[in-house]
Amino acid sequence: MMTNPNATTPQEKVDLLEDVSRPGVKAGVDLLRFTTAGSVDDGKSTLIGRLLYDSKAIFEDQLEAVERASETRGDEHVDLALLMDGLRAEREQKITIDVAYRYFATPKRKFIIADTPGHIQYTRNMVTGASTAELAIILIDARKGVVTQSRRHGFLATLLQIPHLMVAINKMDLVDYKQDVYNQIMADYKDFASKLSVQDIVFIPISALHGDNVVEKSYKMPWYDGPTLLHHLEHVNVGASRNLVDFRFPVQYVIRPNQDFRGFAGQVASGRVAVGEEVVVLPSGLQSKVKSIVTYESEPDEAIIGDSVVLTLEDEIDISRGDMIVRTRNLPQKSGQLDATLCWMSETPMNRQGAYWLQHTTRLVKTLISELNYKIDVDTMHREPTDSLALNEIGRVQLTTTQPIFYDRYQINRNTGSFILIDPYTNNTVAAGMIRGQSRQISDLIDIQAKVESDTMRKKSTDVVWESIGISREMRESKNGHKAAVLWFTGLSGSGKSTVAKKVEQFLFDRGGRTMFLDGDNVRHGLNGDLGFSEHDRQENIRRVAEVARLGFEHGNIVLCSFISPFQADRDFARSLLPQGRFFEVFVKCDIEVCKRRDPKGLYARALKGEIKNFTGISSPYEEPANPEIVFETDLHSTEEIVAQIMSILQAREII
Ligand code: ADX
Repeated sequence: MMTNPNATTPQEKVDLLEDVSRPGVKAGVDLLRFTTAGSVDDGKSTLIGRLLYDSKAIFEDQLEAVERASETRGDEHVDLALLMDGLRAEREQKITIDVAYRYFATPKRKFIIADTPGHIQYTRNMVTGASTAELAIILIDARKGVVTQSRRHGFLATLLQIPHLMVAINKMDLVDYKQDVYNQIMADYKDFASKLSVQDIVFIPISALHGDNVVEKSYKMPWYDGPTLLHHLEHVNVGASRNLVDFRFPVQYVIRPNQDFRGFAGQVASGRVAVGEEVVVLPSGLQSKVKSIVTYESEPDEAIIGDSVVLTLEDEIDISRGDMIVRTRNLPQKSGQLDATLCWMSETPMNRQGAYWLQHTTRLVKTLISELNYKIDVDTMHREPTDSLALNEIGRVQLTTTQPIFYDRYQINRNTGSFILIDPYTNNTVAAGMIRGQSRQISDLIDIQAKVESDTMRKKSTDVVWESIGISREMRESKNGHKAAVLWFTGLSGSGKSTVAKKVEQFLFDRGGRTMFLDGDNVRHGLNGDLGFSEHDRQENIRRVAEVARLGFEHGNIVLCSFISPFQADRDFARSLLPQGRFFEVFVKCDIEVCKRRDPKGLYARALKGEIKNFTGISSPYEEPANPEIVFETDLHSTEEIVAQIMSILQAREII
């Protein structure tokens, strides 16, 4: 029989899921959450100890204890690892409150280090600390160079979408502070990182033991002119990856101190909510309005991602732990069939036949692993067939849960897109997962894999880093007075895509909207002039255009894309580049016979004569959208009616 871990919630599980939110520590630009990863003896504890010690961020009494302990052991240097171990011992005795997180601050910024106490379970350290981390430090021992673990950590960091990577090449003192050792390791790691979609990566040569380039600049490595580790931590741009759009509030507890008060406590997993806003409770679907937002200190009008608050609602609705409160017009996905990436974190390998508990936000459901598609060799990034996943292995699975869950794709929401698996017999956490979407047939999956470069495999040139835009999309949106979005018009040639898209653009333009229009024929002059109409070329056409649309989107525009885009997988790829709720697949439906009759460019006639090969609808397929946001039929309705319909949908979705 399966035991219900809710009954005896292990402390560990709470730590994994509930980021510790302390009063006074608000998510914001003055706060950086980071994780550290390294192999055994790479010096992780020493580094953290050094950071705290040199930045004077530790308490005096702790320091004295460490100095005394080091003296007793006859150490030449203060053993900073002892500091961490000491804290850890304290934690194990439950003296300190924050179990998995270390807090420290410098005058510039506050820091939270996600550091799960534990054994040699790197994967787990990273995965568990990563749901909110914005930077990962990957420690490499200068004597050993890049090892499998270093690659694994980099890969995990990108899978987890941690936006900033810092490769700290440690123990430089043991290689005589030689520049060529540093250069070689940097080159090796960059070579590997070019296979990942890393947004930002820096390399810093350090000696945690001696303090070189940790807080103080090292005079022993004059050849290095970059920042020190702490300087980088203090100045790296944070906050850009937070999802401020999709309000998700998993209910942790129902608070009812007396008859007059009923509140729902939890942490805002993403987005924001304000008093007076309409909300819906999942799974019941009951609606109400936010009456008040209560915190320890005050009753703010608004709560945002990371805030721990109690919400009260206007209406008496039955709500319990595990329910999720969201905004009425911005719902998560619902499914009991999930496509996910799984990091196995247990010594006991995956049991394909067994059932597991799946804990998603505050909700717990049972799940079966219906398919194990492949595992990834982290040295080569190749996919390999497998029957099971062992400790630290990463694979792709299809899950079937006993009840549907309300989720977002991990790519757009690191909170509601992640889960853990728990062994029902031991109550141990055995895996952490990231939801890629609803489960697919494996045959399509391979197909889509081949067609669409997955999130982590998005193409990138070697030796480039992402330059962040100084003016954020949010700033542009608030100036523009509307949100950015992509309207993706798909349909046969001659169906009226461009006619409608242009009318919509005109309408928006006349009202001061910021727009951008990308059209198939135009883009194929110049940018995509090298592409034809084979399946492969069409895929590449859409891939490039989707990337351009995303850039336009990030600049605050409503981007109108008019492309036949006959393949669902390619349209799905375009969708995958944008946050949820901002991509509108617009199916311009028109009978092929009507298109042939219209034939505005005379192309159907030529295709029918065999003069044009691979012509969509004649000699090349068109896959109708499975789940478009907007559909209309140009042979039945006037352009004016259609434009009005699109505008009302954009209004309802709060774009305009
Ligand atoms: S897509 O399939 O790759 O999305 P896209 O929208 O860029 O196509 O370009 C379609 C336009 O190219 C059509 O409107 C038509 O004018 C022209 N065209 C030329 N050859 C073909 C063809 N074989 N199939 C479809 N459209 C073609």
